[in-house]
Amino acid sequence: MENLKNKKILVTGSSGFVGKNLINKLTTLGFKNLLSPNSNELDLTNEQSVKKYFEDNKPNIVLHIAGLVGGISINKLKPADFFYKNGMMSMLVTHYSYLNNVEKLVSLAAGCGYPKNIPVPFSEDDFWNGLPDMNSYGYSLAKKNLVVGSWAYNEQYGFNHTVLIPANLYGPYDNFNLDTSHVIPALIRKFLDAKENNLDEVVVWGTGVATREFLYVEDTVNAIIDAIECNETGPFNLGTGKETSIKELNETISKIVGYEGKIIWDTTKPDGQPKRFYNMDKFKNSFGYIPNTTLKDGLEKTIQWYINNKNIVRL
Ligand SMILES: NC(=O)c1ccc[n+]([C@@H]2O[C@H](COP(=O)([O-])OP(=O)(O)OC[C@H]3O[C@@H](n4cnc5c(N)ncnc54)[C@H](OP(=O)(O)O)[C@@H]3O)[C@@H](O)[C@H]2O)c1
Repeated sequence: MENLKNKKILVTGSSGFVGKNLINKLTTLGFKNLLSPNSNELDLTNEQSVKKYFEDNKPNIVLHIAGLVGGISINKLKPADFFYKNGMMSMLVTHYSYLNNVEKLVSLAAGCGYPKNIPVPFSEDDFWNGLPDMNSYGYSLAKKNLVVGSWAYNEQYGFNHTVLIPANLYGPYDNFNLDTSHVIPALIRKFLDAKENNLDEVVVWGTGVATREFLYVEDTVNAIIDAIECNETGPFNLGTGKETSIKELNETISKIVGYEGKIIWDTTKPDGQPKRFYNMDKFKNSFGYIPNTTLKDGLEKTIQWYINNKNIVRL
Protein backbone atom coordinates (compact mmCIF):
# COMPACT_ATOMS: atom_id res chain seq x y z
CA MET A 1 0.00 0.00 0.00
CA GLU A 2 2.82 2.49 0.92
CA ASN A 3 4.19 2.36 -2.65
CA LEU A 4 0.81 3.56 -3.97
CA LYS A 5 0.66 6.75 -1.94
CA ASN A 6 2.59 8.90 -4.42
CA LYS A 7 0.83 7.56 -7.51
CA LYS A 8 -1.40 9.93 -9.44
CA ILE A 9 -4.91 8.63 -8.77
CA LEU A 10 -7.93 9.79 -10.75
CA VAL A 11 -11.18 9.34 -8.80
CA THR A 12 -14.21 9.77 -11.09
CA GLY A 13 -17.49 10.61 -9.36
CA SER A 14 -15.61 12.26 -6.49
CA SER A 15 -18.45 14.71 -5.80
CA GLY A 16 -20.96 11.89 -5.26
CA PHE A 17 -21.84 9.72 -2.29
CA VAL A 18 -19.21 6.98 -2.68
CA GLY A 19 -16.69 9.37 -4.24
CA LYS A 20 -16.70 11.80 -1.29
CA ASN A 21 -16.18 8.95 1.17
CA LEU A 22 -13.40 7.55 -1.01
CA ILE A 23 -11.57 10.88 -1.29
CA ASN A 24 -11.83 11.36 2.50
CA LYS A 25 -10.44 7.87 3.12
CA LEU A 26 -7.58 8.21 0.62
CA THR A 27 -6.64 11.58 2.11
CA THR A 28 -6.72 10.17 5.65
CA LEU A 29 -4.50 7.29 4.57
CA GLY A 30 -1.93 9.76 3.18
CA PHE A 31 -2.52 9.47 -0.58
CA LYS A 32 -1.14 12.75 -1.87
CA ASN A 33 -1.69 12.95 -5.58
CA LEU A 34 -5.45 12.83 -6.15
CA LEU A 35 -7.29 14.07 -9.24
CA SER A 36 -10.97 14.64 -8.50
CA PRO A 37 -12.69 16.48 -11.36
CA ASN A 38 -16.45 17.01 -11.27
CA SER A 39 -18.62 16.35 -14.33
CA ASN A 40 -18.23 19.94 -15.57
CA GLU A 41 -14.47 19.59 -15.61
CA LEU A 42 -14.56 16.07 -17.08
CA ASP A 43 -17.74 14.86 -18.77
CA LEU A 44 -17.23 11.12 -18.96
CA THR A 45 -19.92 10.71 -21.63
CA ASN A 46 -18.00 13.00 -24.01
CA GLU A 47 -15.16 11.31 -25.86
CA GLN A 48 -13.21 14.53 -26.59
CA SER A 49 -13.40 15.56 -22.95
CA VAL A 50 -12.19 12.13 -21.75
CA LYS A 51 -9.40 11.92 -24.36
CA LYS A 52 -8.07 15.38 -23.47
CA TYR A 53 -8.27 14.84 -19.71
CA PHE A 54 -6.37 11.54 -19.83
CA GLU A 55 -3.71 12.90 -22.20
CA ASP A 56 -3.22 16.09 -20.16
CA ASN A 57 -3.20 14.43 -16.74
CA LYS A 58 -1.80 10.92 -17.31
CA PRO A 59 -3.12 9.23 -14.16
CA ASN A 60 -1.33 6.07 -12.93
CA ILE A 61 -4.43 4.62 -11.29
CA VAL A 62 -8.13 5.22 -12.04
CA LEU A 63 -10.88 4.55 -9.52
CA HIS A 64 -14.03 4.80 -11.64
CA ILE A 65 -16.86 5.64 -9.28
CA ALA A 66 -18.93 7.98 -11.50
CA GLY A 67 -22.30 6.88 -12.76
CA LEU A 68 -25.82 8.10 -13.35
CA VAL A 69 -27.48 6.59 -10.28
CA GLY A 70 -31.01 6.60 -8.87
CA GLY A 71 -33.85 4.64 -7.29
CA ILE A 72 -36.58 2.62 -9.03
CA SER A 73 -38.87 5.53 -9.94
CA ILE A 74 -36.27 7.61 -11.78
CA ASN A 75 -34.87 4.46 -13.44
CA LYS A 76 -38.35 3.59 -14.75
CA LEU A 77 -38.87 7.13 -16.02
CA LYS A 78 -35.54 7.42 -17.87
CA PRO A 79 -34.22 3.99 -18.96
CA ALA A 80 -32.56 5.41 -22.09
CA ASP A 81 -30.63 8.09 -20.18
CA PHE A 82 -29.44 5.52 -17.67
CA PHE A 83 -28.38 3.16 -20.45
CA TYR A 84 -26.66 5.75 -22.64
CA LYS A 85 -24.80 7.69 -19.95
CA ASN A 86 -23.59 4.72 -17.95
CA GLY A 87 -22.70 2.83 -21.12
CA MET A 88 -20.66 5.74 -22.48
CA MET A 89 -18.84 6.21 -19.17
CA SER A 90 -17.96 2.49 -18.99
CA MET A 91 -16.61 2.40 -22.53
CA LEU A 92 -14.67 5.65 -22.49
CA VAL A 93 -13.06 5.22 -19.07
CA THR A 94 -11.94 1.69 -19.94
CA HIS A 95 -10.66 2.60 -23.40
CA TYR A 96 -8.79 5.78 -22.45
CA SER A 97 -7.32 4.19 -19.32
CA TYR A 98 -5.89 1.45 -21.54
CA LEU A 99 -4.66 3.92 -24.23
CA ASN A 100 -2.90 6.06 -21.61
CA ASN A 101 -1.08 3.17 -19.92
CA VAL A 102 -3.03 3.37 -16.67
CA GLU A 103 -1.51 0.73 -14.37
CA LYS A 104 -4.75 -0.12 -12.63
CA LEU A 105 -8.45 0.57 -13.13
CA VAL A 106 -11.01 -0.28 -10.43
CA SER A 107 -14.69 0.21 -11.23
CA LEU A 108 -18.13 -0.41 -9.80
CA ALA A 109 -20.86 -2.39 -11.54
CA ALA A 110 -24.36 -2.72 -10.07
CA GLY A 111 -25.97 -5.52 -8.07
CA CYS A 112 -29.31 -4.95 -9.84
CA GLY A 113 -27.61 -6.49 -12.92
CA TYR A 114 -28.14 -9.92 -11.37
CA PRO A 115 -30.99 -11.88 -13.00
CA LYS A 116 -34.34 -11.46 -11.32
CA ASN A 117 -35.16 -15.08 -10.59
CA ILE A 118 -32.04 -16.88 -9.47
CA PRO A 119 -31.52 -18.64 -6.16
CA VAL A 120 -29.82 -16.77 -3.33
CA PRO A 121 -27.06 -16.29 -2.39
CA PHE A 122 -25.88 -14.89 -5.75
CA SER A 123 -22.52 -16.11 -6.99
CA GLU A 124 -20.61 -14.21 -9.64
CA ASP A 125 -21.22 -16.99 -12.20
CA ASP A 126 -24.99 -16.34 -11.86
CA PHE A 127 -24.50 -12.77 -13.12
CA TRP A 128 -24.96 -13.98 -16.70
CA ASN A 129 -27.86 -16.41 -16.17
CA GLY A 130 -30.79 -14.24 -17.30
CA LEU A 131 -32.31 -10.78 -17.58
CA PRO A 132 -32.29 -8.47 -14.55
CA ASP A 133 -35.32 -6.90 -12.90
CA MET A 134 -36.87 -4.71 -15.64
CA ASN A 135 -37.40 -1.72 -13.31
CA SER A 136 -33.79 -0.65 -13.86
CA TYR A 137 -32.56 -2.65 -16.87
CA GLY A 138 -31.16 0.40 -18.73
CA TYR A 139 -28.84 1.17 -15.82
CA SER A 140 -27.95 -2.35 -14.79
CA LEU A 141 -27.19 -3.70 -18.28
CA ALA A 142 -25.07 -0.65 -19.16
CA LYS A 143 -23.10 -1.23 -15.94
CA LYS A 144 -22.63 -4.89 -16.88
CA ASN A 145 -20.61 -3.71 -19.87
CA LEU A 146 -17.84 -2.73 -17.48
CA VAL A 147 -17.32 -6.40 -16.74
CA VAL A 148 -17.29 -7.33 -20.43
CA GLY A 149 -14.75 -4.54 -21.03
CA SER A 150 -12.55 -5.70 -18.15
CA TRP A 151 -12.36 -9.19 -19.66
CA ALA A 152 -11.86 -8.02 -23.26
CA TYR A 153 -9.09 -5.49 -22.51
CA ASN A 154 -7.40 -7.95 -20.18
CA GLU A 155 -7.50 -10.75 -22.74
CA GLN A 156 -6.36 -8.66 -25.70
CA TYR A 157 -3.98 -6.18 -24.02
CA GLY A 158 -3.27 -7.58 -20.55
CA PHE A 159 -4.96 -4.45 -19.10
CA ASN A 160 -5.36 -4.58 -15.31
CA HIS A 161 -8.98 -3.78 -14.39
CA THR A 162 -10.93 -5.08 -11.39
CA VAL A 163 -14.72 -4.74 -11.27
CA LEU A 164 -16.64 -4.86 -7.98
CA ILE A 165 -20.41 -5.43 -7.79
CA PRO A 166 -21.49 -3.57 -4.65
CA ALA A 167 -24.63 -4.46 -2.72
CA ASN A 168 -27.02 -1.61 -1.78
CA LEU A 169 -24.81 1.07 -0.24
CA TYR A 170 -25.63 3.51 2.54
CA GLY A 171 -23.81 5.97 4.79
CA PRO A 172 -22.72 9.61 5.12
CA TYR A 173 -23.06 11.84 2.01
CA ASP A 174 -25.77 9.59 0.51
CA ASN A 175 -28.48 11.16 -1.67
CA PHE A 176 -31.46 12.03 0.57
CA ASN A 177 -33.65 13.47 -2.23
CA LEU A 178 -36.91 11.49 -2.00
CA ASP A 179 -37.41 11.53 -5.81
CA THR A 180 -34.08 9.91 -6.64
CA SER A 181 -32.74 8.29 -3.47
CA HIS A 182 -32.27 4.64 -2.57
CA VAL A 183 -34.30 2.93 0.13
CA ILE A 184 -32.20 3.68 3.24
CA PRO A 185 -31.85 7.48 2.93
CA ALA A 186 -35.52 7.69 1.91
CA LEU A 187 -36.60 5.78 5.01
CA ILE A 188 -34.30 7.75 7.33
CA ARG A 189 -35.90 10.98 6.12
CA LYS A 190 -39.42 9.64 6.29
CA PHE A 191 -39.09 8.34 9.84
CA LEU A 192 -37.27 11.43 11.13
CA ASP A 193 -39.87 13.71 9.50
CA ALA A 194 -42.70 11.59 10.93
CA LYS A 195 -41.18 11.78 14.40
CA GLU A 196 -40.61 15.54 14.22
CA ASN A 197 -44.18 16.12 13.00
CA ASN A 198 -45.81 13.61 15.40
CA LEU A 199 -47.38 11.65 12.51
CA ASP A 200 -49.43 8.57 13.45
CA GLU A 201 -48.31 6.55 10.44
CA VAL A 202 -45.63 6.27 7.79
CA VAL A 203 -46.52 4.83 4.36
CA VAL A 204 -43.75 2.81 2.68
CA TRP A 205 -43.50 1.06 -0.69
CA GLY A 206 -44.16 -2.63 -1.36
CA THR A 207 -44.96 -5.54 0.91
CA GLY A 208 -41.81 -5.56 3.03
CA VAL A 209 -41.03 -9.21 2.24
CA ALA A 210 -38.36 -8.49 -0.38
CA THR A 211 -34.84 -8.88 0.94
CA ARG A 212 -31.70 -6.92 0.21
CA GLU A 213 -28.11 -6.76 1.31
CA PHE A 214 -26.81 -3.44 2.62
CA LEU A 215 -23.17 -2.41 2.74
CA TYR A 216 -21.84 0.50 4.78
CA VAL A 217 -19.97 2.98 2.61
CA GLU A 218 -16.76 2.87 4.68
CA ASP A 219 -16.51 -0.88 4.00
CA THR A 220 -17.08 -0.08 0.33
CA VAL A 221 -14.27 2.44 0.01
CA ASN A 222 -11.87 0.20 1.94
CA ALA A 223 -12.56 -2.58 -0.59
CA ILE A 224 -12.09 -0.19 -3.54
CA ILE A 225 -8.67 0.79 -2.16
CA ASP A 226 -7.74 -2.86 -1.53
CA ALA A 227 -8.78 -3.68 -5.11
CA ILE A 228 -5.92 -1.50 -6.42
CA GLU A 229 -3.59 -4.34 -5.48
CA CYS A 230 -5.82 -7.12 -6.83
CA ASN A 231 -4.63 -8.58 -10.11
CA GLU A 232 -7.87 -10.31 -11.13
CA THR A 233 -10.60 -8.82 -13.32
CA GLY A 234 -13.40 -10.36 -11.28
CA PRO A 235 -16.14 -9.36 -11.12
CA PHE A 236 -16.30 -9.65 -7.34
CA ASN A 237 -19.41 -9.41 -5.24
CA LEU A 238 -18.93 -6.70 -2.64
CA GLY A 239 -21.25 -7.01 0.33
CA THR A 240 -21.59 -8.53 3.76
CA GLY A 241 -23.18 -11.82 2.64
CA LYS A 242 -26.11 -11.03 4.99
CA GLU A 243 -29.77 -10.74 3.94
CA THR A 244 -32.20 -8.22 5.47
CA SER A 245 -35.93 -7.95 4.73
CA ILE A 246 -37.32 -4.51 3.93
CA LYS A 247 -39.68 -5.00 6.88
CA GLU A 248 -36.73 -5.54 9.24
CA LEU A 249 -34.96 -2.54 7.73
CA ASN A 250 -37.98 -0.31 8.38
CA GLU A 251 -38.29 -1.53 11.94
CA THR A 252 -34.57 -1.00 12.63
CA ILE A 253 -34.59 2.55 11.27
CA SER A 254 -37.81 3.54 13.05
CA LYS A 255 -36.38 2.17 16.31
CA ILE A 256 -33.03 4.03 16.00
CA VAL A 257 -34.89 7.23 15.12
CA GLY A 258 -37.30 6.74 18.03
CA TYR A 259 -40.50 6.81 15.90
CA GLU A 260 -43.42 5.13 17.64
CA GLY A 261 -46.26 5.36 15.06
CA LYS A 262 -47.53 2.71 12.59
CA ILE A 263 -45.84 1.51 9.41
CA ILE A 264 -48.34 1.13 6.50
CA TRP A 265 -47.33 -0.95 3.46
CA ASP A 266 -48.45 0.43 0.07
CA THR A 267 -48.69 -2.90 -1.73
CA THR A 268 -49.66 -1.25 -5.04
CA LYS A 269 -46.00 -0.18 -5.36
CA PRO A 270 -43.41 -2.66 -6.73
CA ASP A 271 -41.07 -4.66 -4.50
CA GLY A 272 -38.43 -4.97 -7.22
CA GLN A 273 -36.30 -8.11 -7.20
CA PRO A 274 -37.77 -10.52 -4.61
CA LYS A 275 -34.62 -11.66 -2.81
CA ARG A 276 -31.06 -10.52 -2.98
CA PHE A 277 -27.88 -11.29 -1.08
CA TYR A 278 -24.40 -12.34 -2.05
CA ASN A 279 -22.16 -15.33 -1.79
CA MET A 280 -18.91 -13.64 -0.70
CA ASP A 281 -16.56 -16.65 -1.17
CA LYS A 282 -14.81 -15.28 -4.26
CA PHE A 283 -14.14 -11.90 -2.60
CA LYS A 284 -12.94 -13.59 0.59
CA ASN A 285 -10.55 -15.87 -1.31
CA SER A 286 -8.91 -12.93 -3.08
CA PHE A 287 -9.17 -10.12 -0.51
CA GLY A 288 -8.87 -12.23 2.67
CA TYR A 289 -11.90 -10.84 4.54
CA ILE A 290 -15.62 -10.06 4.28
CA PRO A 291 -16.82 -6.51 5.09
CA ASN A 292 -18.43 -6.65 8.51
CA THR A 293 -19.98 -3.38 9.72
CA THR A 294 -23.37 -4.45 11.12
CA LEU A 295 -26.51 -2.87 9.70
CA LYS A 296 -27.40 -1.45 13.11
CA ASP A 297 -23.96 0.17 13.60
CA GLY A 298 -23.92 1.53 10.05
CA LEU A 299 -27.45 2.92 10.36
CA GLU A 300 -26.70 4.57 13.71
CA LYS A 301 -23.67 6.32 12.20
CA THR A 302 -25.60 7.34 9.08
CA ILE A 303 -28.58 8.73 11.01
CA GLN A 304 -26.26 10.64 13.35
CA TRP A 305 -24.39 12.04 10.34
CA TYR A 306 -27.69 13.12 8.73
CA ILE A 307 -28.83 14.88 11.91
CA ASN A 308 -25.47 16.65 12.36
CA ASN A 309 -25.11 17.69 8.72
CA LYS A 310 -28.54 18.93 7.68
CA ASN A 311 -26.90 22.00 6.09
CA ILE A 312 -24.90 19.93 3.55
CA VAL A 313 -27.20 16.93 3.02
CA ARG A 314 -28.30 16.32 -0.61
CA LEU A 315 -32.05 16.83 -0.44
N1 LIG B 1 -25.20 3.87 -4.22
C1 LIG B 1 -25.36 2.55 -4.33
O1 LIG B 1 -26.10 1.91 -3.57
C2 LIG B 1 -24.62 1.80 -5.39
C3 LIG B 1 -24.76 0.40 -5.46
C4 LIG B 1 -24.05 -0.30 -6.44
C5 LIG B 1 -23.21 0.39 -7.29
N2 LIG B 1 -23.09 1.74 -7.19
C6 LIG B 1 -22.19 2.43 -8.11
O2 LIG B 1 -21.34 3.26 -7.33
C7 LIG B 1 -21.01 4.41 -8.08
C8 LIG B 1 -21.21 5.65 -7.22
O3 LIG B 1 -22.57 5.76 -6.86
P1 LIG B 1 -23.06 6.96 -5.93
O4 LIG B 1 -24.19 6.42 -5.15
O5 LIG B 1 -21.90 7.57 -5.25
O6 LIG B 1 -23.65 7.98 -7.00
P2 LIG B 1 -23.88 9.56 -6.89
O7 LIG B 1 -23.84 10.03 -5.50
O8 LIG B 1 -25.09 9.87 -7.69
O9 LIG B 1 -22.61 10.17 -7.60
C9 LIG B 1 -22.45 10.01 -8.96
C10 LIG B 1 -21.18 10.69 -9.36
O10 LIG B 1 -21.01 10.45 -10.76
C11 LIG B 1 -20.66 11.68 -11.37
N3 LIG B 1 -21.13 11.73 -12.74
C12 LIG B 1 -22.41 11.54 -13.20
N4 LIG B 1 -22.46 11.74 -14.53
C13 LIG B 1 -21.20 12.07 -14.91
C14 LIG B 1 -20.61 12.40 -16.15
N5 LIG B 1 -21.33 12.45 -17.28
N6 LIG B 1 -19.29 12.68 -16.16
C15 LIG B 1 -18.55 12.66 -15.04
N7 LIG B 1 -19.04 12.35 -13.84
C16 LIG B 1 -20.36 12.06 -13.77
C17 LIG B 1 -21.34 12.77 -10.54
O11 LIG B 1 -20.61 13.97 -10.73
P3 LIG B 1 -21.29 15.43 -10.65
O12 LIG B 1 -21.95 15.52 -9.32
O13 LIG B 1 -20.14 16.36 -10.79
O14 LIG B 1 -22.28 15.50 -11.78
C18 LIG B 1 -21.17 12.21 -9.15
O15 LIG B 1 -19.93 12.60 -8.61
C19 LIG B 1 -21.84 4.39 -9.34
O16 LIG B 1 -21.03 3.96 -10.40
C20 LIG B 1 -22.90 3.36 -9.06
O17 LIG B 1 -23.32 2.70 -10.22
C21 LIG B 1 -23.76 2.46 -6.26
